Amino acid sequence: MKKLLFLLITIIFISCKQEIKNTEAISPEVTSQIKADVKKSTIADKAMVVSAREEASKIGIEILKKGGNAFDAMIATEMALAVSFPFAGNLGGGGFMVYRTQYGEIGALDYREKAPLAASRDMYLDENGNFISEKSKVGGMAVGVPGTIAGIFAVHEKLGSLPIEEILEPVIALAKRGFVITRKQAKRLTHYNQVFLDTNKEPSIFTKAYKEGDTLKNSALSTTLSRISQNGRAEFYNGKTGEKLIKYLQSNNGIITMQDLNAYEAVWRDPIVFNYKELKIISMSPPSSGGICLAQILKLIEPFPIKEYGHNSVKTIQVITEAERRAYADRSFYLGDPDFVDIPVETLLSDDYLSGRMDDFSFDKATASESLSYGSIPGYESDETTHYSIVDQFGNAIAVTTTLNGAYGSKLYVKELGFFLNNEMDDFSAKPGTANMFGLVGGEANSIAPQKRMLSSMTPTLVEKNGKFWMTVGTPGGSKIITSVLQTILNVYEYDMTMQEAVDAPRFHHQWLPDVIRFEPNSFPKDSLKYLENKGYIVEEKKSTIIGKVDGIKILPNGKLEGGADRRGDDTAIGF
Ligand code: DON
Repeated sequence: MKKLLFLLITIIFISCKQEIKNTEAISPEVTSQIKADVKKSTIADKAMVVSAREEASKIGIEILKKGGNAFDAMIATEMALAVSFPFAGNLGGGGFMVYRTQYGEIGALDYREKAPLAASRDMYLDENGNFISEKSKVGGMAVGVPGTIAGIFAVHEKLGSLPIEEILEPVIALAKRGFVITRKQAKRLTHYNQVFLDTNKEPSIFTKAYKEGDTLKNSALSTTLSRISQNGRAEFYNGKTGEKLIKYLQSNNGIITMQDLNAYEAVWRDPIVFNYKELKIISMSPPSSGGICLAQILKLIEPFPIKEYGHNSVKTIQVITEAERRAYADRSFYLGDPDFVDIPVETLLSDDYLSGRMDDFSFDKATASESLSYGSIPGYESDETTHYSIVDQFGNAIAVTTTLNGAYGSKLYVKELGFFLNNEMDDFSAKPGTANMFGLVGGEANSIAPQKRMLSSMTPTLVEKNGKFWMTVGTPGGSKIITSVLQTILNVYEYDMTMQEAVDAPRFHHQWLPDVIRFEPNSFPKDSLKYLENKGYIVEEKKSTIIGKVDGIKILPNGKLEGGADRRGDDTAIGF
């Protein structure tokens, strides 16, 4: 009897201890809230598309079912997002694709916007040298030369298998037939209604009052897409569509000319490839900072046993925050368009360089961002987005992030053509030391110059495990993209979460400047936040902030595919 009582007490003691350990990571009320929010994983045998809209995922899958490959599905999904998710899906923006073929070949496509030929270093400064921040965000001056149409045709030429007419046919039909407005979409359209009117000075289909369940038809976009389908890339960069676009831009303060469109080229680039423990990670290279920052952060945290510390435990948050702080400090100084600036990529990712970066880190006290600068490299002269992931039945995998930058970009809507134009020029460092819309502070490497690409944070990423494709992942979120991708990979790899749990889990973010850790609201235990404040961290938990909207696909041990479509949006995984 005594023995039994002892055993019982021991069991209670052990389970209490575990409870305390878990509580330290995340409180029970938070856990239950997350559980209530978590979507069920989507599992498929052969192929899958995960994107921000059900219509786009469906069209991508339709192309795969017709025998098309992931690259054909990329073109269809990208364009279907332009129709059904005009908040970020686009013809008037740009993006990046990272791919891995069924044969293990890897590559990356840069279809990022470029500064127009008439752009200049100080174009957003007034006569006293002050940054006129509105100018790089709204209206004609904010627009970079769009890259998306060049991007889809570059993909088609190199890797596509079906005729372009066949790929675009369901998208053209969708624009004509219309898509059903979701609750989140209705809210956003209402929110921007007045801004659209103020910016465009004329009503359009986007200035009507919409409610959930209404259908939005875009016949102008359907006509534009039909012309592109018939006449190819030249329709946008040399043809009628381009001419209409330039005419519209020039009557709206824009500086982009036909010469800019003629000169635009998407560029195939080598992705950033690095190891984290047994994983091989393939991510986007400059002009995105995504791959380099992700690599730096993962390499800086690699020596710390974060699995033992626990998911979102205070020690894990400290290690990740301090690694992020250091990587974003380097980002601001070293990174820009590789066609214009010399980036010391090898050094930035080398063990020698990175091993010194965490020397001053201590669990006792936060490092102050103002005391930390970019690392010194001897000999170096200073000089609202959307993501989708596709895996096809052949084994090709892609990760694509595409954007207009802010919500509906510059808010300029080319009524005759049916699409919005980006405000990607705000991603440049308009004035060194002054923050852009994401609070990012940049330097000379990301200053404005004609034809230069603005630095991005987009991080479309593929992961291999034991030499085989394992995961495709990415997200919108501006400067928070890199840290959201990072946490999702760690959630799956270190904390054994399913893909769906990994994308749904609460996230936090630090970007060197401003020197704050941002937490998703009501997702982290109050005592954890208090603990961090006591260590000198500035904690921000804004009410309506979400950090990223991650979509991903993971290969399960039985070879099936598991999709993770972020609970924070209308994101949908569809497979077969
Ligand atoms: O390229 C970039 O880093 C930004 N233009 C991305 C913008 C973005 O993610 C907005 N969505 N929330």
